[in-house]
Parts: sequence; C-alpha cells; structure tokens
Amino acid sequence: MTELATSYMGLALRNPLVASPSPLSYTLDGVRRLAAGGVGAIVLYSLFEEQLRKQQAHTTELVDGPAESFPEALDYVPAVMKEDPGPRRYLNLLERAVASVDVPVIASLNGITAEGWTDYARAMQGAGAAAIELNIYYLPADPRTHGRDVEQRHIEVLQRVKEAVGVPVAVKLSPYFSSIGEIALSLDEAGADALVLFNRFLQPDIDPEELLILPEVTLSNPADGRLPRAWIALLRGRISASLAATTGVDVAADVARYLLAGADVVMTTSALLRHGPGYAGELIDGLSAWMARKGFGSLDQLRGMLSVPADTDQAAYARAGYVTAMRAANAGSYDPW
Ligand SMILES: Cc1cc2nc3c(=O)[nH]c(=O)nc-3n(C[C@H](O)[C@H](O)[C@H](O)COP(=O)(O)O)c2cc1C
Repeated sequence: MTELATSYMGLALRNPLVASPSPLSYTLDGVRRLAAGGVGAIVLYSLFEEQLRKQQAHTTELVDGPAESFPEALDYVPAVMKEDPGPRRYLNLLERAVASVDVPVIASLNGITAEGWTDYARAMQGAGAAAIELNIYYLPADPRTHGRDVEQRHIEVLQRVKEAVGVPVAVKLSPYFSSIGEIALSLDEAGADALVLFNRFLQPDIDPEELLILPEVTLSNPADGRLPRAWIALLRGRISASLAATTGVDVAADVARYLLAGADVVMTTSALLRHGPGYAGELIDGLSAWMARKGFGSLDQLRGMLSVPADTDQAAYARAGYVTAMRAANAGSYDPW
C-alpha cells in the first residue's frame, strides 16, 4: 500500500499532483473535471488586473452565460473594479468551484498596482480560496531596469499581500534572476508560504516567410523540467516555504523525479491539455506503481532523497553543477531507476 496524502503550505492534499493555472479551469465544468481526474488541488487560471483580461473575460462570459450570483467577496472590491467583468466572473467562479469540489482551490493573481494585488487578494480570500498564488509575471522590458529593483518589487508584492490576507500565499517565480537562491531566500524570509518554480513566459516566435510575430503559447517538454528540478534540489532543506514544481511533467516518472529532487507538490498543465483532465489519474496511478516497485510506503520516504545535501561543497557545486555534485554525493549509494 502506498500513501500519497501530503501537505502543501499547510493544506491537506490527497496526493501531490496539482493542476496549475490554465484554460482548463476557465469554467466550473472544467474545475469539476480536474477534481474528478484525481488531482490533489487546483490552482485556478490567473486573474490579470489589467485591461487585457477584460476582453478574454467577456469572450468567456459569452460562452459561459452570465454569472449566476454576485459573490459576497465583491464587497471587498472597490466600486471601480466591480465594473470590470474579469474580476466579477473570476470571483463568482472561485466561489462556486470551492463549493463544488472536495479538493483545495487556490486562486491565482497577477496584479500591476498595489491596490490590485491587495484588494483582489482579499476578495479571493473572501470567495473561499484555500490559498493565493501570486503569479509575478513581470518582464523588465525597459533595458535600464536594475535587477535589485525587480527583486524588490517581488518582495514588496508578497509583503503587501501577506498583510492583506490570512490564507497561505505562494509566489510563482520566473527563472530570470542573477541569483535564484538569493531571491528564494528573501521571499522565504518575507513570509512566502510556498515558492512555485518556474513560470514560463510567453515567448513569441517569428515566421520568416510571412514576416509575422507569432504569439503562440507552446506546451512544455520533459526536458524543460531540468532547470526547475535543479533549483528545487538545491533549495530543499534551505528554506521553510513549501516547494512546488511546475514545468515539464509528461509521465509519472517526471512526477517522481521532482519529488526525489525535493518538491512538496508537482504541478501539471501541458500534460492535461494534451491528454485531458482524466490523465491526472494515470499520473497518480503511475506514481503509486513506481513507489510500490521501489518499496516506498509514503512520500516522506522519498521526497528530497536526491536533493543537494546541506553539507555539499558550495564552491564545487557552483563550478561543476548539479550532476557532478550529485554523483559525488550519491556515489554507489542508490539508483532510483
Ligand atoms: C495555455 C496556457 C495558459 C496558462 N495560463 C496561466 C495562468 O493564467 N497563470 C499562470 O500562473 N500560469 C499559466 N500557465 C502556466 C502553467 O500554469 C504552467 O506553469 C506551465 O505551463 C508549465 O507547466 P507544464 O509544463 O506542466 O505545462 C499557462 C500555461 C498554458 C499552456
């Protein structure tokens, strides 16, 4: 018997697989399908503060039909924001999702103004969100932007939201920092309940024949998981925030890889978009089968087994990287595959 129950920033989860934000959670039916598929928690798609989302919300509303009720959570939102159909629809969906599924529903927020971050976060808490994930999707497009300012912005956003709500707050980070470790430690000290590694930015391509920019969102590949996995392995045991892995889960072995590196939970979007929400059940069954085959009875027995040990020579690690350091640390001891 394998036990998959786990905890993520204090939330009790039936298993460590979490549906990360995507169009799969745009509707109540989508949320229900994700829960029925077997995930341990659901992070709703991100509420974007800016105008951009308005059009999208409007389009979705046309598909969904009008909101059925005005959630009480809207009491927290200033009048001007209530006119925006994006937040209204989001909070309505959140409230109904929380009432409809038996797994924690985490709200995701992308703000641009101080008020946007705090007022919406408060409203999400009011609508029943089990936790809030801050999707700090910020591209310093001005080439004169200082790295320190970008980091400080992350810390301030987190601090403001932590002051505004009592539910756990996760920060979804991009990998584009000079020192990921330092920003992770700073966010941990500033009160982050979880770090989600890493956000994937929309990276438009160029069509040389049509001479056009292609704003396409591409789905991930398993190899894309190597970067977040290396950082999770390094941060494991060095911060008190929970660690969530996002990017590159295709098969159950990818979930196992992240857990061995030290992730508390493993998120998935591309695989569920490719195969449907029911594929979560296959990932979970595959994880159970692998644990049974390897003799692991619970996640505690394997989580972080291949993280970077605390006594690792940091200088050697910095020079040679994860692979060499791990080879030395685990020489002859254990081969999980
Ligand atoms: C179509 C699409 C929409 C997404 N929308 C959001 C979003 O609203 N907020 C967010 O934080 N991440 C969003 N993501 C990112 C995913 O949540 C996830 O972090 C990323 O796709 C990497 O995980 P994966 O390799 O399992 O796909 C989106 C991804 C895709 C493909």
